[in-house]
Amino acid sequence: MKASIRAWGSLVFGFSLALTAIAVMAQTPGTSVDVLHWWTSSSERRAADQLASQLALAGVQWKDAAIPGGGGMAAVKVLKSRVLMGDPPDVAQLIGTTLTDWADIKLVLPLNGVAQRQRWQSVLFPTVLDLVTYKGDVIAAPLGIHRINTLLYNRRLFAHIGLAPPRTWAQFEVAAQKLQQAGIRPLAWSDEPWQIATVFETVLLGEAGPTLYQDLIVRRHSAAWLDPRVERALQRLRWLRNLAGENPQERVWTEGARELMNDTTGMMIMGDWAKGELMAWGANPARDFGCIEVPGTSGMHLYSIDTFAMLVSPRQREAVQEKIAEVVVGPVAQIAYNRIKGSVPVRRDIDPSVLDSCARQSWDTFSNPASARVPSLAHRMAADENIKDAVAQALWRYLTDPKGDTLETQRRLATIIRTPVMER
Ligand code: BGC
Repeated sequence: MKASIRAWGSLVFGFSLALTAIAVMAQTPGTSVDVLHWWTSSSERRAADQLASQLALAGVQWKDAAIPGGGGMAAVKVLKSRVLMGDPPDVAQLIGTTLTDWADIKLVLPLNGVAQRQRWQSVLFPTVLDLVTYKGDVIAAPLGIHRINTLLYNRRLFAHIGLAPPRTWAQFEVAAQKLQQAGIRPLAWSDEPWQIATVFETVLLGEAGPTLYQDLIVRRHSAAWLDPRVERALQRLRWLRNLAGENPQERVWTEGARELMNDTTGMMIMGDWAKGELMAWGANPARDFGCIEVPGTSGMHLYSIDTFAMLVSPRQREAVQEKIAEVVVGPVAQIAYNRIKGSVPVRRDIDPSVLDSCARQSWDTFSNPASARVPSLAHRMAADENIKDAVAQALWRYLTDPKGDTLETQRRLATIIRTPVMER
């Protein structure tokens, strides 16, 4: 009897030890982390899964909190409300001034320790390090560099019609006309405001050149918006919009990519995540589609850099959050993730020969000291959410209102983009 009580006692003891161990494990910071992002297309999903599997190897479990919506409009709203409710995710795809505003009020974990241990100062591109450095602190882990001034074209259709990839707007006009004559939609188009803003900023860069672009977007010289080159960019935008026909249509960006894939559209102007998407569907840049710079932007890199911010919360996840930063910026994850996502690594010490031909062009331009690297407004590199949205709305109005006036739109943009950027 005594023996059986002893046995029972030790069983209970063992059981409670196991329970304690489970409870301790559950409390151990960093086993499972909540990651909020807006990557929901095929390539975006795969790229996120790739990061998740790299993190799993390091003992970190990715709990997905994806919020659909291209360009992150919905995700940023959800993120803000979660922060306001005191339930921030552990990791968030967050860029631009929201990040710096939150760093000011100590909502973002500084990553100076990881940055120092992993020598980010010497391995990252200076533009990238600069973007994630604020008031002397590193405040986010950079993931990949997207190129916005990308023109994708369908190789089969171009070969069939006997067209060369257009390097100038004059060549683009000829290509558009020949595609139209062959009954093919020349350019994929969507009237979603963020997509209009994405096309506009690349056209603006081409018309204005990098110096005026910086004046307009980065230094925000209000009067510069009345420059005739801005007028030309707006007119070019309208011309591109009109290639799509009369009716305004707001479609997700993957629909345009799908048309390019299916040989029903000849060209698409979009950040190179569209190339990632085509590749996720099995298309090949050497065989099915090509990438060139949008006319007028050769030697220029209009960038949008995705980053993960680690948010401070009562859960106290600092150790695991630092681990995440270390893994995602590490060379293995950088290559694996960016090859799927369509972007290029943020590190300058990787071997660029592992990149596809489009990524290689982006990489070569970004890493060339003689290139002009300019930040995207449509993707939060140069202004906050409010300014970005107001610009996108002004452009949307310009295009969708038949009476939309160019000069009036220039004046409107001058009023929206006037606040000087705070010195870093
Ligand atoms: C992000 C990309 C994303 C794209 C489309 C951009 O703002 O930087 O990572 O693929 O939006 O959703």
